[in-house]
Amino acid sequence: MSFLDIAKSRQSCRAYDANRPVEEEKIMAILEAAQLAPSACNSQPYHFSVCRGEAAKKVSKACSGMGMNKFSADAPVMIVVSEMPYNRTAAIGAKLKANDYRSIDIGITTAYLTAEADSQGLGTCIMGWLDDAKIREICNLDGAVRLVIALGYPKEGDPLRKKVRKDMAELVSFHN
Ligand SMILES: Cc1cc2nc3c(=O)[nH]c(=O)nc-3n(C[C@H](O)[C@H](O)[C@H](O)COP(=O)(O)O)c2cc1C
Repeated sequence: MSFLDIAKSRQSCRAYDANRPVEEEKIMAILEAAQLAPSACNSQPYHFSVCRGEAAKKVSKACSGMGMNKFSADAPVMIVVSEMPYNRTAAIGAKLKANDYRSIDIGITTAYLTAEADSQGLGTCIMGWLDDAKIREICNLDGAVRLVIALGYPKEGDPLRKKVRKDMAELVSFHN
């Protein structure tokens, strides 16, 4: 499978098979992909808390305020991505260049993680609608919770949706 194939088949899964657990080796492969992601100054300013069972249910609830993300209750795994401090060089670079490399790095590692999940036949949904304080308490975290990723097998028959994206003319410009 090429990366483009994965990019075309990955989609936000909002219908999980609650009765089908995710194999340990698949979870580890997905985490390895996240581990291999590039980051500014190789700082890797993130941590992954893998929640299953009761912890996953609690995290799902903490992502479901105001009626959002209710589908996540069926996901057997919830991966919490929290922020960790920069290393020294990334901290200096971020300050001098006034650039939030941590958020960029978290986005990249999350992209790697969700791409590998897709290649393993699993569904994911990246969720930014979350209750930071509640999830910190559940996972015993000091760093800010930036994203939660619901992970599990899609429900039988969950269709691949048509991608809605800006067209190339709007998205890209070429310069010589
Ligand atoms: C940073 C971020 C936060 C997101 N938060 C949520 C969320 O809280 N709930 C949700 O259902 N989808 C969420 N999404 C998924 C987007 O809605 C989705 O990626 C986008 O509409 C494109 O659809 P696709 O992922 O199916 O290709 C989030 C995606 C990203 C990258």
